[in-house]
Amino acid sequence: MDCFAQRLKKIPPYLFAELDELKQKTKGEVIDFGEGGPDSATPKPIVQAMIKALQNSEYHRYPTYQGMIAARVAVADWYQGRFGVKLDPAKEVCMLIGSKEGVGHLIWGVVGYGDKIGIPDPSYPIYRNQALLSGAVPSILPLLETNDYLPDLSRLRNQKIKLICINYPNNPTAAVAPLSFYKELVALAQREGFYVLNDNVYSEIYFDSPPPSILQVNGAKECCVEFHSLSKTFNMAGWRIGFVVGNKNLITAMLKIKQNTDSGPFSAIQETAIFALRKTGSFAKSIRTLYRRRRDTLVTGLQRTGWNIKKPAATFFVWAKIKDKIDSITFTRQLLAKTKIMVAPGIGFGKYGEGFIRFALVVPESKIKQAIMRLNRWH
Ligand SMILES: Cc1ncc(COP(=O)(O)O)c(C=O)c1O
Repeated sequence: MDCFAQRLKKIPPYLFAELDELKQKTKGEVIDFGEGGPDSATPKPIVQAMIKALQNSEYHRYPTYQGMIAARVAVADWYQGRFGVKLDPAKEVCMLIGSKEGVGHLIWGVVGYGDKIGIPDPSYPIYRNQALLSGAVPSILPLLETNDYLPDLSRLRNQKIKLICINYPNNPTAAVAPLSFYKELVALAQREGFYVLNDNVYSEIYFDSPPPSILQVNGAKECCVEFHSLSKTFNMAGWRIGFVVGNKNLITAMLKIKQNTDSGPFSAIQETAIFALRKTGSFAKSIRTLYRRRRDTLVTGLQRTGWNIKKPAATFFVWAKIKDKIDSITFTRQLLAKTKIMVAPGIGFGKYGEGFIRFALVVPESKIKQAIMRLNRWH
């Protein structure tokens, strides 16, 4: 008898493990666009704020589950300034140990055995895997190029779905949802009686106009929550700090799971998050400038080598359609073997990701230029 609970068998094998192994075996320098996390350091003033916060011995105690009220007020102020949305810090904001735990715990708190949950495909795998672990039944929402990678909302009618997960700006397709899409979705959720989880962790990594929040739609708070993360906005992935805002009942359901699993984030990190959020403008701007340069270098280079590809308007991902008639895993393997360039194969994000690869702009510009040279030599 193995030690794995039955529910673990529902999780598909980790596709990237085999590719990681291949990468390890590749001789010479691999230029890795496959990883999805920011590569740069947290801005120095944020690190300094943390050093100061660490001296406060009050912060060495257990943190509260929902997070410090001062941090929740800072989130509410940031929301008001960035999206023009008013939030009640007491009930409509909760600090998280990174958005990932919140997404997982919210899914567990809201759907259970047999409940239907709408899952986009391709997508960040956590929504689907957590849904499967919780016993819920995923209802796949294909994200197609022909529909700008937005789900076809007519598929959600009369489906008795309890919760749908969406993520804009999107990983892996880099698509941005316009406010008009959110308006349509909220109206449908109200008519059909389902809840919406919008994962908005890439909201500050944009190159055109700032992406909207679903909570900008009138009445959205009746059925929606939105997740944010300091991981991407401030290069703080290792710190584990994020937050969820919106419908208070959904947040309470998530907190019930959280209270029985973990605690709130380390208070010194919350104190530092307050500092970062109050100064978002200056930090986020320089992080955007860095990704914009990388995006332009990669996309222009790819276009020159014959890829039919557009510059993404947000996120640090470039979603590229494979020209050759081969599947994304074979292509990824060939690319690694011939050029020592690593990417993420689209199939790793779901069946509708097949035919694509994802580049993450987490590689310095000089390496991106080298990668383009290698691609030129290959073709
Ligand atoms: C769409 C999406 N949501 C959530 C996360 C997790 O972010 P955090 O570091 O806040 O847990 C990621 C990280 O890659 C992501 O791509």
